[in-house]
Amino acid sequence: MRIGFFDSGVGGITVLHEAIKQLPREDFIYYADIDHVPYGTKSKEEVLKLVLDAVDFMAAEGIKVLVVACNTATSIAINELRQRYDFPILGMEPAVKPAVENNGCKRILVMATPLTLREEKYQNLVTRLDQDHLVDGKAFPELVEYAENFYFDKDEILKYLNRKLGIHNLTEYGTVVLGCTHFPYFKRILQELFPADTHIVDGSTGTVNYLKKILTERKLFAEDGHGQVTFYSSGRKELPESRYARYLLLLDQNQ
Ligand code: SIN
Repeated sequence: MRIGFFDSGVGGITVLHEAIKQLPREDFIYYADIDHVPYGTKSKEEVLKLVLDAVDFMAAEGIKVLVVACNTATSIAINELRQRYDFPILGMEPAVKPAVENNGCKRILVMATPLTLREEKYQNLVTRLDQDHLVDGKAFPELVEYAENFYFDKDEILKYLNRKLGIHNLTEYGTVVLGCTHFPYFKRILQELFPADTHIVDGSTGTVNYLKKILTERKLFAEDGHGQVTFYSSGRKELPESRYARYLLLLDQNQ
């Protein structure tokens, strides 16, 4: 059986990319809800319904474990999903904990969608961990649109980021947490914008390490996979070459 990856769009490919690298004997289903992306500017009720519909489809296709490779979908739907299905379900969480632990006394910027930042899950995380009030959460919904449109013009994106971050003193930030799986596509640009010693962290490696742990514990490793991915766009099958392969290629080039 295959491993399922779900996202509102192309963001989860940043996590899938790491999984293909670390688990070359597995095969994967990647489901992007491209008819409804972005999720981060929708209501909680809308997102919950969309996620449940999509995962019903994936479960019917047959998956042995699900990675909800979307921070927004995780904050809204992870509890309902775990009640509804028997297979293990992993979600994404902005990496605030390692950021707080390793940051010294510099500020931490959490970049995410408006819905992720509004949600109780994120609010509780920050209340629990940010004793020294060093964490600033800021929404960047436009980066989701840029990634979906394969728009990576460095100069324009730098202009946009400078506009959004204009009121902040970037030298104060020790860590930038990418709290949306669409944002690692912009990691190199962010590295140029922030001081060289600012850490830019995303959750892909941690999530894939956890996925490996779950596969080991539940004896779910495949013996016969080839790192093959079947892509679905809101329930329609897509040829890998057509839409998604160029994102995997971009991530290869960014390494
Ligand atoms: C979005 O659909 O707005 C982005 C979802 C996410 O990765 O948080």
